Amino acid sequence: MATWIRKSAHTRELEMVKRPENLQIVVRQPDIDLRPLMRRQRYWLGGDPVLTHFINALQATFPEGERFFIDSARDVSATLPPERMTPALQQDLNAFIQQEARHGRAHDAWCDALVDIGYTRMPEYDAQMKKLRLWSRKHIGALTRLALTAAAEHMTASIALLLLERRSDLLENAERPVRDLLAWHALEECEHKAVCFDLYQAAGGGYLRRSIALLFELFDIYVHVQTRLRYLLKTDGLWTWKMRWRVFRDIWGPRGVMGSMYGLLWRYLRPGFHPWDSDERAAFTARYGDLIPR
Ligand SMILES: [Fe+2]
Ligand SMILES: [Fe+2]
Repeated sequence: MATWIRKSAHTRELEMVKRPENLQIVVRQPDIDLRPLMRRQRYWLGGDPVLTHFINALQATFPEGERFFIDSARDVSATLPPERMTPALQQDLNAFIQQEARHGRAHDAWCDALVDIGYTRMPEYDAQMKKLRLWSRKHIGALTRLALTAAAEHMTASIALLLLERRSDLLENAERPVRDLLAWHALEECEHKAVCFDLYQAAGGGYLRRSIALLFELFDIYVHVQTRLRYLLKTDGLWTWKMRWRVFRDIWGPRGVMGSMYGLLWRYLRPGFHPWDSDERAAFTARYGDLIPR
C-alpha cells in the first residue's frame, strides 16, 4: 500500500511515495575476485576492447561516486526533522548505505585488478575524484549534493533496465565472475533506486534542482568515463582514429550503449516522475537470479 508523507515545508503539499509493499533492500555479501579473469582475458566482454574498457571505465567512477552518495544522504538525513523521516525511509536509508558501501569496496577491488594487469594510472583518477568529493562536501549544500545523488541513482537504475531489456548482451557476453558482479550490483540498484529520491523530497527538494542535477550528472559521467576510457585504450596502443570513431558509434552516439539509455534517462525530467513508476526487480531476478549471491 502506498504511504503519504509531507513533501515540502514551502508548499505543504502531500506527496505519495510509491514504495512497493514487498520491497526488501537486501545487503548481500559477494566474495568476487576478478584478478584471475583479468589476467587470463583482458577483453572479457566478447573480446571487444571498446565495450570491455567502457565498462571498466564506468565502474572505476563508482567507488568515489558511491561514497559521495552516502555522504550526501547522511548529511541531509542528519538535518531532517524526525516527523519527515518515516520508519520505512530510515530503514531503507540504512540498507542503502550498507549496499553502497559494499559496492564501493567491490569496485575498489575491480580497480586493483586493472592495476594488476598494467593500468597503473587508475588510482590517480580515483584520487582526483576523492579530492572533488571532499571539496564538494565543504562547498556545495547537502540538498544539492543529494539532488545529484538522486539523479545518479536514476542513472544506475537505468543501467539495470538497459541490461535487462535493450542491451542484455553486455551482461550475457561478459565472462564470469564479472557477469555475477554486474548482475548483483544492478539488482541492488533496482532495490534502492528510490531511497535518495524520497529523502530528497522529504527534505523539500524541488523539480528544477533535480532536473538540472540529471543534466549535470550526464556531463559529469561523460567527462570521467571518457577520460578513463581513453587512458585504457591508449595504454593498449588502441587509441587510433578508427577506435575513436568506434567509441562514438558504440558508446556515446544514438545507437551506442549510452545512446540506448538516453530515452530511459529523460523519464526523470517528467514533473510527476517517481522511481517506482516501474519495478524491474521481479523481471531481473527471473532472468539473472542464478548469478546473484545470497
Ligand atoms: Fe551502487
Ligand atoms: Fe545506488
